[in-house]
Parts: sequence; structure tokens; C-alpha cells
Amino acid sequence: MRVLVIGSGAREHALCLALAADPAVTALVCAPGNAGTAAVAEQRGVDALDPAAVTELAQDVDADLVVVGPEAPLVAGVADAVRAAGVACFGPSAAAARLEGSKAFAKEVMSAARVPTARAHVCTTVDESAAALDEFGPPFVVKDDGLAAGKGVVVTSDRAAALAHAEACERVVIEEFLDGPEVSLFCLTDGSTVVPLLAAQDSKRIGDGDTGPNTGGMGAYAPLPWLPAGLTDDVMRDVARPTVDELARRGTPFAGLLYIGLALTRPGPRVVEFNARFGDPETQVVLALLETPLAGLLQAAAIGTLGEQPPLRWRPGAAVTVVLAAAGYPDAPRTGDIVTGADQPGVIHAGTRRREDGAVVASGGRVLSATGVGDSLDEARERAYRLLAGIDLAGGQYRTDIALRAVHGEVTV
Ligand code: AMP
Ligand code: GLY
Repeated sequence: MRVLVIGSGAREHALCLALAADPAVTALVCAPGNAGTAAVAEQRGVDALDPAAVTELAQDVDADLVVVGPEAPLVAGVADAVRAAGVACFGPSAAAARLEGSKAFAKEVMSAARVPTARAHVCTTVDESAAALDEFGPPFVVKDDGLAAGKGVVVTSDRAAALAHAEACERVVIEEFLDGPEVSLFCLTDGSTVVPLLAAQDSKRIGDGDTGPNTGGMGAYAPLPWLPAGLTDDVMRDVARPTVDELARRGTPFAGLLYIGLALTRPGPRVVEFNARFGDPETQVVLALLETPLAGLLQAAAIGTLGEQPPLRWRPGAAVTVVLAAAGYPDAPRTGDIVTGADQPGVIHAGTRRREDGAVVASGGRVLSATGVGDSLDEARERAYRLLAGIDLAGGQYRTDIALRAVHGEVTV
């Protein structure tokens, strides 16, 4: 199978590593890629947001399967164009990717499918926003309706800051605060069959102890030793299948990866968000534990044969990944600094680029993540941090407490 991966982040590097390890993959191309993907896949240039350009590249490399990594190309219709050209594509249509592309749309689908989520109002004026904030009370949750590359959500107890964020966005979703540990559950789906992967947890705040601003994610681990038995089954029944069925009923089936972000609240699991793609950094840990060859799975989701796949096989043990971010992240990441020690197994590249002299330099906010796998969560964690200790980036920032509360048995539902 000849596979083309679209994207240039850690998710795409992790996907490329898993695809390269699949004996069914005879050729692997990544576009535009980063310094990490370049080491495992042929690198090509492409404007990932241009459906015609991606389709042309897919034909040029004679791809049997295109895997679209990030959300923006999906929302722009890249998967539609690739499929229209007769090439199998992993990733939802633009219509189905609205589940991530519009928070108001996601709320509407959840309401129609009776999926448990935070109560919410869609607001377009200051008066509406103020009324919604006062109805729900602090902590306030204000979400830009559209794609905002991880910067659209403000959670604060400062009413003025909440209102200012609402005013700065054209259309916002204001919702009740959900209290409880967060879980990321990735589901593969071909539009009818839905298969859950291992649940993972992401740490979203920049600082230890979940302090400071929200980021794209500073680290993750899987599996979750504290996850209540039966929770994945409950979420499949109450969230994943109803959502996939609702989109099929509307004539816009969702095929690809449905990322379910949950808060485990006292009354039960509630959806915090849907994404239409693999999450970063959770992908690094989930794929590190997946033993089933990935290409066949993604192809089955793309062509509608997921129901014929045998059950997934997982490596026993655990995986932990710790993100190394550039100085100034998340506000104003500094790029161009040299990264040393990044060419090691377990290092997943995100914002990196290789200079002509061979040096790896930072080219984005989250630069890389160090992934450790072990027989226990503790061992995986130690390996991830040991790997990270051998990497140098001037001004680099990372959290020292990824998976720590889980190792200590301190996460309670
Ligand atoms: P989203 O982009 O919707 O995932 O939101 C980003 C992050 O904001 C989530 O991972 C949560 O940590 C937080 N968040 C979003 N919605 C809520 C909510 N209703 N209650 C509490 N935290 C939330
Ligand atoms: N880990 C959060 C995300 O991928 O959106």
C-alpha cells in the first residue's frame, strides 16, 4: 500500500512512524512534513489547505491511501477532493468535519443525538454574551465558534475577561463549567462501525499543577489506571455511536477519527469537545501502544470495511509523552533555536525543520515530544523524562508532572 500523510506536526510524525512499521506499507510520503517525518517518509511540499494541490500530489505519488492529519485541511474539503478523484482517504468530509470546525454545529448535533454535554448558548452580541455568563456563573467558559488553533477557548473566573473574549469573537458558545478529570477517547469510524482506541489524558495548561494559560497540550499518557470500568462502553453507547449515527442520518457520514474530549463530572461523562482528527499529544502515546498494523485500519475506516477488522491488539504497559515547547510559547513562541538530541527513537517532532547544515531548529510553538513506553506508567514516565533530559533547546519549556498524579493514584473521578 502506498500511503500519503498530509500535515507537519507531532501527530503526523507519530502516524508516519506507525505506518512505516506496518509491513503492508510499501511507500510512505509525508507532505509538507517536518524534520522527524523526513527521516521515515519521502518528503514533498504541498499547501495542505488546497484540496486540488493535495489531490494532485496524491495522484503524482500514486497513493492508495491519503491520511489527512490536521483539522484545517479537513474543514477546507481536502478529503472530499481526494475521494472525488477516486483515491481512498482517511479523514472526514468538510460537512462532517464541522463537528470540530463549528462549536455551535457540534452542540446542535449533540442536542439532536441526545449526547450529554455542557448546557450552552450561542451568542453573537455583547448583551447575549453577558446574559449567558450570568446565567451559568463562574468559572466562565467562552469558546470561539470557529477553528482557532487551540486558542479559541477561555476558561476564567474573571467576568470582564470572559466578556472581552466574547466581544473579540464574532460568534461564541458560552457554556457551563464542567468539573472533573478530562479524558480523550479516539474512535476510528467508517461512518457506521465505531472502534474505540485506548483512552488517554492530555495536560492542557502550560505549567505544572495545571497552572497558566491553555496550550495545544503539554503531555499525555495512556492507558488511564483510574478510568472507571465500563466507561469506554458507556461513552460508545451514549456519545460515539449516537453522534456517528446522527451524521449518517443527515447524509453527511463521518469517516475518520472522532476525537471525543470528555469531562468525567459527578453526574457522569460530558462531552467537552469533538475533534475530527487524531489529537496531539495523545496520538503519540496511543499509537506507541497499538500493536495492530495501522495502515490496514485507516484504510478500512476510509473505505467502509471497519466492521470486518479483527479486534485491536495493544501492547501491555503504558506510554507517556512530554512536550518540549519553545521559549515564549503559547503567546509568542521563539523560532530558529537549535535543538540537539532530537534524532533519537521515541522523540516525536512537531515544530522542527532541518537546516542545510543538518542542524534541527525549532520552527513552531510545540517543538517535539519525548515518548517513553514501559511495563508500568511509572517506568514509561521515567523513560520519557530520561529521553527529554538528553535534548537541549535554549529557553525550552516542559512540564515536570505529566502522569505524576496518576502514578501516585491521586486522580479521582
Ligand atoms: P476545547 O477547545 O473545547 O477542547 O477546550 C479547550 C480546553 O478548555 C478543554 O480541554 C478544557 O480543558 C477546557 N474546557 C472547555 N470547555 C470546558 C467546560 N465546559 N468546562 C470546563 N473546562 C472546559
Ligand atoms: N490534545 C488536544 C488536541 O489535539 O486538540
